[in-house]
Amino acid sequence: MGAPRKGWLKTLWSAAKTVAFLGPGIILLALQYARRRDQLEAMEGRASRAEAWQGVGRPRGLEAIPGGVRVYFQEAKPGQGASPYPGHGQGPYLGHGRSPYLEAVFLGEDLLRLTWFPREAVPPYALADSKPPLWEPERLETPEGYLLKTPRLALRLEEEGLSIWDGEGRLLRREAYPERSGRAWRHRVRLASGERVLGLGERAFPLDRRGGVFRFWNRDPGGSYGLGEDPLYLSVPLWLSLLHEGGYLAFYENPADGFADLRGEEALVGFWGGPFRYYLIPGPLEKALARYLGLTGLPPLPPRWALGFHYARWGLRRREEVEEVVEGFLRRGLPLRAVHLDIDYMRGYRVFTVDEGRFPDLGGMVRAFREKGVRTVLILDPGIKAEKGFPPYEEGLREGVFCRLPSGEVFLGPVWPGLAAFPDFTDPRARDWWRDRLRGFLELGVSGFWLDMNEPALFAAWGEPTFPKGVRHSLEGQGGDHLLAHNLYGLLMARASWEGFRTWAPLSRPFLLTRAGYAGVQRFAWAWTADVESTWEGLRTTLWALLGLSLSGVYFVGSDIGGFSGDPSPELYLRWFQMAAFTPFFRLHSARWTKRREPWRLGEEVLAGVRWAMGLREGLLPYLYTLAYEASHQGLPLLRPLFLAGGPYRDPPHGASLGEAFLLGKALLVAPVLEEGARAKEVPLPPGRWYPWQGDGALEGPGWVRLPAPLDRIPLLVRGGSLLPLLQEEGLTLHLYPGEEGAQGLLYWDEGDGAGAYRLDRFRAQRVEGGFRLLWESEGDYPWPWDGIGLKLFGGRLSRVWVQGKAYPAGEGGVRLPPFAEAFLEVAG
Ligand code: GLC
Repeated sequence: MGAPRKGWLKTLWSAAKTVAFLGPGIILLALQYARRRDQLEAMEGRASRAEAWQGVGRPRGLEAIPGGVRVYFQEAKPGQGASPYPGHGQGPYLGHGRSPYLEAVFLGEDLLRLTWFPREAVPPYALADSKPPLWEPERLETPEGYLLKTPRLALRLEEEGLSIWDGEGRLLRREAYPERSGRAWRHRVRLASGERVLGLGERAFPLDRRGGVFRFWNRDPGGSYGLGEDPLYLSVPLWLSLLHEGGYLAFYENPADGFADLRGEEALVGFWGGPFRYYLIPGPLEKALARYLGLTGLPPLPPRWALGFHYARWGLRRREEVEEVVEGFLRRGLPLRAVHLDIDYMRGYRVFTVDEGRFPDLGGMVRAFREKGVRTVLILDPGIKAEKGFPPYEEGLREGVFCRLPSGEVFLGPVWPGLAAFPDFTDPRARDWWRDRLRGFLELGVSGFWLDMNEPALFAAWGEPTFPKGVRHSLEGQGGDHLLAHNLYGLLMARASWEGFRTWAPLSRPFLLTRAGYAGVQRFAWAWTADVESTWEGLRTTLWALLGLSLSGVYFVGSDIGGFSGDPSPELYLRWFQMAAFTPFFRLHSARWTKRREPWRLGEEVLAGVRWAMGLREGLLPYLYTLAYEASHQGLPLLRPLFLAGGPYRDPPHGASLGEAFLLGKALLVAPVLEEGARAKEVPLPPGRWYPWQGDGALEGPGWVRLPAPLDRIPLLVRGGSLLPLLQEEGLTLHLYPGEEGAQGLLYWDEGDGAGAYRLDRFRAQRVEGGFRLLWESEGDYPWPWDGIGLKLFGGRLSRVWVQGKAYPAGEGGVRLPPFAEAFLEVAG
């Protein structure tokens, strides 16, 4: 665990990084901006004085309301609520005007919403469904307090705080009634011994967040980050509590600047403004996540090509350089599915322009790539160069779509093109304006957009690299400041871009990749973990960041293979490639100051390893696409920590397993190699039977096993009971890995894009005397696109298969069969 760099060394290091990252041209602007931001914030600061934390006191009255209850509080006297946590703002008590009250309502038997008043409301951008129906709970007076209860969840209002229980009467959570200070609210939540807290969005921190302090504030760490950096680009105020039995999910529907301090036996969670509203959902966690996605939206089914391999590189300055790389992949038979153009394609980094000199006839290039099966994705940054005569700037000014300072002046901040103005995506007019700006690129045949710098990030020589907190936002007309709108910026930029796709390319499925976001961003975009350092620790940190995102409802995630900011050793590069092949978004990318790293530049051994990883990924496409379908229909994550594998698998010593391996869907266990020089790995196995990808035989979990990890591959296991659909040269092949009961598998398939016909194939193998009975049921109108079906058995020797009275002998590689509804698999021995 790398100690965070301390004191002056840290300052010097970040200054050096900033200079290297920005280049001398922008340094002056970054210096000027940091000064100006400090001045603006100082002016703001004078107007709002810090106030003491004030408890809401005890409940002094209840009123039944539909779906729940309203609880009135006797506010404590000044001083009583003073903070035991220094540094979170103290000062004279200025009074709050209105007495606080709580509204607790059930929006289903497994969903409780708590809202504290008075409240600073924000439009419900995170929610897909802002009006879920109410559920009438049972109401009981008990000696311990007033109880509201559904079959799955109960809330008890006590003297000092409230408690949440599951349907079996197990305590899930106990929290003190909150405190407030000016616009801020916070509360303390008791943590049980052995309780693990997961989620909180993208974090460079071990999966169990206990022991850390986290900020909810999207932030660009400035070109490179490593373990312990906080916050990062995409925060989600969602926490998952893993208890000895069960667990629960809590989602704070507040986009404002906030924090979660998990250092003690009590967590302290608060927000410096915005509504203090949160939702509670009982476990099991897999179900709770799916429920949360019911609330904040399911990720849409992506176009199938997006699940293939993507290539990006910052610093490819000419069309020929890009063409050369594309050819390089295709010539070597490396299946490239998308190429991303970084800011280099623009004219002087002006968004919505193309440098015709260096990238002549972009449309022609896009079409030529497409004919070869390679899609083109363009980067877009939100900052519009503030330059007289630059049409997007002039139009934006005319239409009033840019963010403004409290003085009414358009806010300008430095980014790649120099000083820029920023669309206020919380304004529906600005979203429409942005949507329409995408038309040209979409009509050229561009297949996706890569949304960067949308924390929003600015270049600042010191301090916060973003807008001053006082910058004004529309928030659908209600008005508000940047403290409230900051974390929404990436989410709403993605939403506006999504609308661009729906409007200008309605027949294709949108592909958007975003760096920043907030709860609900999964409805519009995939996310990547951006500028991580190219170190072994960076690789491990990346795995945690990816799983953290997945446990926060952002399922389609990936990283820059090899790390963004440095030069990985060939070994690190290969290990990163191998891990990335099993993450939903599979992309190579690197900073312009690093060495080029197309797989053929790192030696034959690396190239061979990359081939294995890329080949496997292509083979897994039917499985991955089916997982994408399940994510988009049932809210199931693609990347899962092992405790979601079921069974009592979270107790020590298995706690260590949280960050060592992961599941891709239900069937695959991936154990990436995270240590230099390692040629074997201790792999934690969840309960059940597990088949190593290579070699015969099966292993029984739970427990740890040591598996070989030669340089060219990583340990990979298939869960017994799976029927894995794979693509092979001959077509689709089912790999049968029997469990106790037999095996099951699902396959979703369609045209790969658009909203046409689909098919779902369900396979079920039952153990019978002498072998297996295999049933195949289909649904949907899309015709079976392969010539028959292949079948391969693991953990046994298939001698032949009977279909409609005809025997098909099986060889080493299995057998190919005509489509069937029922088959009998004869197993030798
Ligand atoms: C940011 C992005 C990175 C990109 C660079 C230049 O650092 O995170 O991926 O290459 O900007 O656009």
